[in-house]
Amino acid sequence: MSPAADDLLREEVRLLGGLLGEVIRDEGGDELFEQVEAVRQASVAYHRDPNSHPAGRLQKLLTAMTVDQAAGLAHGFALFSLLANIAEDRATRRRAKGQAEAGARPDTPEGALARLTEQGVDRAAVRALLEDGLVSPVLTAHPSEVRRKSVIDRIAAISGILDACDQAGLACAPDQLTARLRRQITILWATRLVRTQGLVVQDEIDTVVSFLDRIFLHVAPQQLGAWRRLLDAPDLQPFMRVGTWVGGDRDGNPNVDGAVLTAAFRSQSRAVLGFYMDEVHALGSELSLAAELTEVTPELQALADAARDPSPHRSDEPYRRALTGVYARLAATHEALAGAPPLRRAAVQADRYSGPDAFEADLRVLHDSLAARHGAVFEDDRLTDLITAVQIFGFHMATLDLRQNADVHERVVADLLRVAGVCPDYLALDEDGRMQVLARELTSARPLFSPYAEYDEETLKERAILQAAAQALSDFGPQAIRTHIVSKTDAASDLLEVYLLLKEVGLYRPEDPAACPIQAAPLFETIEDLRAAKPTLERLLREPSAMAVARARGVQEVMIGYSDSNKDGSYLTSGWELHEASRALVDVTQAAGLKLQLFHGRGGTVGRGGGSAFAGVLAQPEGTVQGRIRTTEQGEVIANKYGEPEIALRNLDALTCGAVLASLGQGRDQAFTAEHGRLLSALSQASMNAYRRLVYETDGFNDYYRAATPIAEIADLKIGSRPSSRSASPKIEDLRAIPWVFSWSQSRVMLPGWFGFGSAVEGRDMAELKAMAEAWPFFRTLVQNMEMVMAKADMTIARRYASLVPDPSLAARIYGEIRSEWDRTHAAVLAITGHDKLLGGQPELDRLIRLRMPYVEPLNHVQIELIRRRRNGDDDPRVREGILLAINGVAAGLRNSG
Ligand code: PGA
Repeated sequence: MSPAADDLLREEVRLLGGLLGEVIRDEGGDELFEQVEAVRQASVAYHRDPNSHPAGRLQKLLTAMTVDQAAGLAHGFALFSLLANIAEDRATRRRAKGQAEAGARPDTPEGALARLTEQGVDRAAVRALLEDGLVSPVLTAHPSEVRRKSVIDRIAAISGILDACDQAGLACAPDQLTARLRRQITILWATRLVRTQGLVVQDEIDTVVSFLDRIFLHVAPQQLGAWRRLLDAPDLQPFMRVGTWVGGDRDGNPNVDGAVLTAAFRSQSRAVLGFYMDEVHALGSELSLAAELTEVTPELQALADAARDPSPHRSDEPYRRALTGVYARLAATHEALAGAPPLRRAAVQADRYSGPDAFEADLRVLHDSLAARHGAVFEDDRLTDLITAVQIFGFHMATLDLRQNADVHERVVADLLRVAGVCPDYLALDEDGRMQVLARELTSARPLFSPYAEYDEETLKERAILQAAAQALSDFGPQAIRTHIVSKTDAASDLLEVYLLLKEVGLYRPEDPAACPIQAAPLFETIEDLRAAKPTLERLLREPSAMAVARARGVQEVMIGYSDSNKDGSYLTSGWELHEASRALVDVTQAAGLKLQLFHGRGGTVGRGGGSAFAGVLAQPEGTVQGRIRTTEQGEVIANKYGEPEIALRNLDALTCGAVLASLGQGRDQAFTAEHGRLLSALSQASMNAYRRLVYETDGFNDYYRAATPIAEIADLKIGSRPSSRSASPKIEDLRAIPWVFSWSQSRVMLPGWFGFGSAVEGRDMAELKAMAEAWPFFRTLVQNMEMVMAKADMTIARRYASLVPDPSLAARIYGEIRSEWDRTHAAVLAITGHDKLLGGQPELDRLIRLRMPYVEPLNHVQIELIRRRRNGDDDPRVREGILLAINGVAAGLRNSG
């Protein structure tokens, strides 16, 4: 960041922070204001120079506080963090814009195409790639967003006020600006930051639909239009498809069932049809062209006549009459698919559209007539954007995936087979035995289910959701649901079980397996399962059933899980095994004459695969992208990446550019892997050994973890509809990855982001590792992300969390181990990057993080203090609330924490 940009950022932080101070004084009183100020100044000073200003003073200030004071302080600092984030985002946006305008960014379409041209790849190749391409961000409800929608809306309002002021330039009067900002900050101050009510799945559906409605419906057509123009390919198929899991992902979430799936589609179709109707209505207002004054095509005339619009005012306005008919057909479609008539009724009666193609055909009649008479004047306008939107979103809006755990499918299939008398104990069979039974059943047209028999509740529930899926496919067409993901896949039978269940609801038909609209996709997520991914997929593709489905679409999708592999085996091991599994999977799919479609299951923070999506895609081994990529977008990432249209467009383009460059650019991963793969494998194994020794093999580790992090308190945050554990077991193996990573972020250890690396590289040739990090994108990205997460860690604060462990010798022993590994890793990273401090090579990021941390740290101290009081028996509900507020504030301040 240039010094001027840096100054601007600081100025904005000061402006917003100052206003917040005034609000705190006015609303919370002088005493609170002075306390907040004292803590803020101590924290900032400590951060400027940790040696000159011991953290002890800060601690003392905090431990002396009453619970109300502590809560007020937590509230204040949480807001400081949120406001600092606004200034930071604006600075990042300004920088990105400047670079994009200078053509310096390969993650913009122009930049990516320029880079490809340098490498001798022409636009025709990009066109051909995208013609069969798929770029798909998939929105999920993974519970890591701590901010309430009301808070996110206020943040957007503040950001909007500042943006408007930028545009107004000198016309932006400072008094007015501060008055408007103050109003928003006052509302924020009086808004609860923490939820009091738990979320239900419908809330999560509503959230996703609101992003789809507010952002994607507008931005995705814009993006496709721009790529079509850039590539001179007006008919380029919609390669960008937005997906969702909400309402279909029931792995560990008992609240998702058939009714919820149906409700999700209703909500989605209500939004998308509502959007189409608004657009058609707006076009009707605009296209007042009179027959007397312009010619229309016979097709348009026929469409206008078919509408039977009785209005005398429109009788000589053929476009409006045609649109009246189109609107009426959409209204009838709305009633049929969304389950209720639209708010704005149609002027005439009409039949519903059979599908989006028929709607698009009508819009094309309008477009062609306008183009025939008026030429290019009507290109790239509201109507063409609407046509593009229909091509992308259909009547379903977003493709919804199904997901369930392999264990559940096994039990359900066993129940069905037992009751049908086909196999008394399927669960007792080995893999070969299971495959035989499944393969045989998949050739039989006879269903297993009998309406007269009794089944486990789980069986009935699974059947009901698949029936709801079959209904959704019949209502919305094949883009509505394409994939059924199987978590914890460790064998080919886990996938054939899905086809058998799909057969039970008529979606898989033995006489025509290729017509099955849903593909079963494995999710490989433990280290062992990733290592076995190749034979598992090979075995699957030897089955005619699975192969027929894959061949029909030319693609086999495979999902890989970043968080669980990390939790199982450490950061370095997860990164390396995902890399190796991806390479192996390319071989398997290529041998089968298929393309591989990788689906990356990643969260926002580094321990869950976070980091720049663009860099991540480019670091993929050759052959693993091939123009097709899906990736989850979860929790806080959704609002951060897709909260505003301009930022959303940039992120969609970055993902697309990553996919294009990774597919067509000169990749060199293979050469690097050939050269360094053996070393990486050894490092990975050593990292996993060190990590597993600590986490799974150290006596007392679980006790330490539960006392030295707020894991117990996190469950109270009410940020998602699913339970935080799949079972009641207290074992770390059974804890879900999100609370695991989240709790380590809160305690500022960030253990999943780095632990094991130091031990792995100890005693190795650092010059070799340094050279590797300079040249090999995979290793460079891995180290850079690790460095970033380490910069957000703070071992001094981590030690204070360790003081919450009741047994001091246990605390000292385990903290000591973590600390030693930290020191090893820290030293190794500096040796590899060649800098004298973390982020030495990324000064902008360093400055941003350092600007933010003084606001986060007091929240950590408040949190520790209140947790201590609570665990010492203080059951005042305000203590609990204060803890949640502090957790919320730390998460918001760290930005990617869960
Ligand atoms: P899961 O996700 O627990 O839903 O499999 C893991 C994650 O994304 O962290």
